[in-house]
Amino acid sequence: MEQYIIKGGKPLCGEVEIGGAKNAALAILAAANMTDETVYIDNLPDVRDINALLGAMEEIGARVERIDRHTVTVNGSGVTNCIVETESMKKIRASYYLLGALLGKYKRAQVPLPGGCNIGSRPIDQHLKGFKAMGAVTRIEHGFIIAEAEELHGAHIFLDMVSVGATINIMMAAAMANGNTIIENAAKEPHVVDVANFLNSMGARIKGAGTDVIRIHGVKSLHKTEYSIIPDQIEAGTFMFAAAVTGGSIVLRNVIPKHLEATSAKLLEMGCQIHENDDAIRVIAPKKLQSTHVKTLPYPGFPTDMQPQISVSLALADGTSIVTESIFENRFRYVDELARMGASVKVEGNVAVISGVDKFTGARVSAPDLRAGAALVLAGLAAEGITIIDDIYFIERGYENLDQKFRGLGADMEKVSSEKEIQKFKLKVG
Ligand code: EPZ
Repeated sequence: MEQYIIKGGKPLCGEVEIGGAKNAALAILAAANMTDETVYIDNLPDVRDINALLGAMEEIGARVERIDRHTVTVNGSGVTNCIVETESMKKIRASYYLLGALLGKYKRAQVPLPGGCNIGSRPIDQHLKGFKAMGAVTRIEHGFIIAEAEELHGAHIFLDMVSVGATINIMMAAAMANGNTIIENAAKEPHVVDVANFLNSMGARIKGAGTDVIRIHGVKSLHKTEYSIIPDQIEAGTFMFAAAVTGGSIVLRNVIPKHLEATSAKLLEMGCQIHENDDAIRVIAPKKLQSTHVKTLPYPGFPTDMQPQISVSLALADGTSIVTESIFENRFRYVDELARMGASVKVEGNVAVISGVDKFTGARVSAPDLRAGAALVLAGLAAEGITIIDDIYFIERGYENLDQKFRGLGADMEKVSSEKEIQKFKLKVG
């Protein structure tokens, strides 16, 4: 079992290159199966969830060729079987995107009920509601969701809550349905816009992505395209908080500052300086972070995927902060781990009251999920002494070369897999 080992306490300084957005890439890869022509996709992050999805696509007959670490071509003409059975697909959330993509093109899909991080109950009723409105019949059998339609037609769909997954899934299916679909109360996240842009570059007719009403005119077929995925706003935000929590100064390259506005606004409230260019941001930490309050909300609000990272930073700020998690009910599972490092956080339901402390001390902790795991890495980087993080499998689902990127910023951090390597690291860092 691999672990991260960190000797914390150093301000992180330097430049870091941000990769492509995992959550956009997952949907875009699924959508790439919707044409028989070859699609070229660039700026793909090399992370576990992406590789699991590529594997599943190959199993249903798609031809995937890796041009380099961050570039693939996908040819979906060989998809003969719309049954996704791969074991790894049960573990990742985005398996559900194959449902919308395959239903759109082949009018039939069978996909394992989605897994993903244990951050809440995560129903998919809104996805199914959308498919049904378009004429599909859906059922759950033996752990699979099956969606079938004689003919998929346009529909007027009002989502009961803002859902990224349901918006994207319905948009994909509707791209190849007969007639017009309107999605109201749609999610506005940058990756929703990226998927719409990708589909439009394949000949789809989608308007309004990025607003809460998306209009889709279904087309008969989609064609080849070359596409570069947007930068990952959550990876970027994680490095922004790394600068804040370690008292450092980091320049992030390959970012879209507009996508990071909610994160930047909170860092400013906490006393950081933010300097933006076209595709770069510098974050400079103050001597001492200030407390603030934050509530997670759909975009353009503060992202739930950044909640653990800001909470860890607030746990070292001057004063008391209140963090309200309004998207997923189970997203404070890292708090007990953080307490082992000296943090003072009290959770009541979906609210955490954080009393800032002067310092963390290193401890052995385990990553409960992807973003919480990344937040514990930030805590380790800020802490006095050695931190060991178990279960980094979760972190690697969504972060490419996290240890290497932090080393590039001056951190003492390594990935280890034995007691011998742990001892070697300890000797090296003194
Ligand atoms: C996506 O999950 C992301 N995952 C999550 O990122 C992210 O936290 C989330 O959006 C919110 O931004 C992927 O893109 C693969 P939702 P998703 O549907 O689509 C409720 C990460 O760390 N809901 O927007 O599953 C739901 O329970 C991951 O990268 C229903 O009730 O999220 C939640 O409370 C973790 N019924 C809210 O809506 C539905 O049918 C928003 O969920 C769908 C959602």
